[in-house]
Amino acid sequence: MSLMGRYFKRNTLHFGSRCTRLHITSHHKARVEAMMCDLASLRSVREFADSYKAKKLPLHILVCNAGVCTQPWSLTEDGLESTFQSCHLGHFLLVQCLQEVLRRSAPARVVVISSESHRFTDLIDSCAKVDLALLSPQKKDYWSMLAYNRSKLCNILFSNELHRRLSPHGVTSNAVHPGNMMYTSIHRSWWLMTFIFSLVRPFTKSMQQGAATTVYCAVAPELEGLGGMYFNNCFRCLPSSQAEDQSSAASLWELSERLVADGSAGIQAL
Ligand SMILES: NC(=O)c1ccc[n+]([C@@H]2O[C@H](COP(=O)([O-])OP(=O)(O)OC[C@H]3O[C@@H](n4cnc5c(N)ncnc54)[C@H](OP(=O)(O)O)[C@@H]3O)[C@@H](O)[C@H]2O)c1
Repeated sequence: MSLMGRYFKRNTLHFGSRCTRLHITSHHKARVEAMMCDLASLRSVREFADSYKAKKLPLHILVCNAGVCTQPWSLTEDGLESTFQSCHLGHFLLVQCLQEVLRRSAPARVVVISSESHRFTDLIDSCAKVDLALLSPQKKDYWSMLAYNRSKLCNILFSNELHRRLSPHGVTSNAVHPGNMMYTSIHRSWWLMTFIFSLVRPFTKSMQQGAATTVYCAVAPELEGLGGMYFNNCFRCLPSSQAEDQSSAASLWELSERLVADGSAGIQAL
């Protein structure tokens, strides 16, 4: 099992060593390894994928879980708005880079963590194409919550298109809503969110409960070979109509391909 995170010393290594201890006590043969990857950097994602491939390990389950919410506006080193790149584009590139490994490891599953907040936005311009100006807005047009909602809509569109493209090769993909306003670290960028999350904390899922739907999609035998769906509380449910729209998913895929093509050169060419 490989865990990835962006701050090797502070988080990933600490988390990795805790998981290693937990795993080794319950599964004696399990090997857990922490690896570094910053999803907000195309270079870092490529380096991570290369290191993973160099290990010659199979990849049966890939969980695209990382996310940030209510961050102040900032551009990544690749020139894109950071919520969009961390939540969607980094995962998109990661799956692109590991696609061959997933295909060789089939049956394999991808689980993409989205959110019910995908319902409160759209991404389409007047020509019915996914609009980069909405996904990666300039500072004057930026509202952090909207950026998060849009990235979560991208997660479902991405998962559905991925499933359409890779399921003939034995790789399935499903999207997940883990729970409402669970007290994780997601609220940490804005004191108001921390305050609201603290107020509702007694009524929301624990982290373990929040992980249940993700784990279900990753391992449930009854989901073998099935994908292109959206799950909440370990049940399939209907996402918004735009999240189900195949042409939006294809349009996002094409845009994402152009953005990751040759790193920032791809972004400048747009
Ligand atoms: N909490 C909720 O109520 C809720 C509701 C709906 C959906 N979700 C979704 O659930 C997923 C997990 O969120 P969470 O609630 O567990 O929040 P969390 O505790 O903040 O976890 C998010 C994880 O993403 C990692 N991450 C963020 N930016 C990254 C980057 N650029 N590169 C690599 N890793 C990065 C963070 O690593 P660092 O600690 O190193 O920053 C952290 O480990 C997210 O996709 C979120 O949108 C959460």
